[in-house]
Amino acid sequence: MDSAEIEQCFEVALGLVKEAGQVVREAIKKQKTIETKSCNVDLVTESDKAVEKLLIEGLAKAFPSHKFIGEESTAAGAKCVLTHDPTWIIDPIDGTMNFVHSLPYTCVSVGLWAGKEALVGIIFNPVLDQMFTAKKGQGAYLNGERIRVSGQKDLSQALIFAEMGTSRDPEKVKTVLTNLTTLMPRAHGLRDCGSAAVSMAYIAAGFADILFHYGLGPWDMAAGALLVWEAGGVVYGLEGGPFDLMRRRVLCASSPELAQEVAGLLTQYQPTPDGDLMG
Ligand code: IPD
Repeated sequence: MDSAEIEQCFEVALGLVKEAGQVVREAIKKQKTIETKSCNVDLVTESDKAVEKLLIEGLAKAFPSHKFIGEESTAAGAKCVLTHDPTWIIDPIDGTMNFVHSLPYTCVSVGLWAGKEALVGIIFNPVLDQMFTAKKGQGAYLNGERIRVSGQKDLSQALIFAEMGTSRDPEKVKTVLTNLTTLMPRAHGLRDCGSAAVSMAYIAAGFADILFHYGLGPWDMAAGALLVWEAGGVVYGLEGGPFDLMRRRVLCASSPELAQEVAGLLTQYQPTPDGDLMG
């Protein structure tokens, strides 16, 4: 895809994400209709479904040959496969649990990947009015102002996003708690933002220094990974090796030094022998 095509994709997606944000901004104040998905803390609301429909319909109209991976379409049985074709990867509301509780750390996340590379990333928190944007090779921005990762290398000064995730598998819960115990005395602070996409955008903006997670979908990471890269940060698999969007794990940080130190300290959790590959 050439730069003019990327620009056109970005502009269309930005307009739709703003519309989607308006839906989320209104709905967060109201009573929600909540259903559960994989377990009783994996939630979906009518707004998640409405926003995903709005985004996919709008993008498909503008780009009929493009493919889609959407969180709620996948939950409803659609295939979740990343090919080399231009693919929009959508989380209509990331941080649905926060949204249900009206906690304003929630966002619309839209990434465009092609040739297995991230080209466009947009993460919009409409409640706090934070629009994070990135295009490949052109930097990352918050509300139009250039952002950069903190560059922090020292774990004792690092603010960590240690997300709990939705799985209540006892082995996973034990691993998460073990890692919190390992990191807490070594880090400046530990936080769970409740939206992996918002957390990744915050790392890009230098508001925190590192995030790790064992149970994300591609829709949680597709836009955030580009933001972190474009802001000068690093994105790895959890073990400190190459990042694979279709594996459920990520470690992203303000510097390779910090990422590698934390990767070396983490107890790993691998639910299936192939690393819980999606698709
Ligand atoms: C969730 C959020 C959360 C993460 C969960 C995700 P959703 O996405 O990103 O931060 O810990 O694992 O499922 O369901 O709110 O779109």
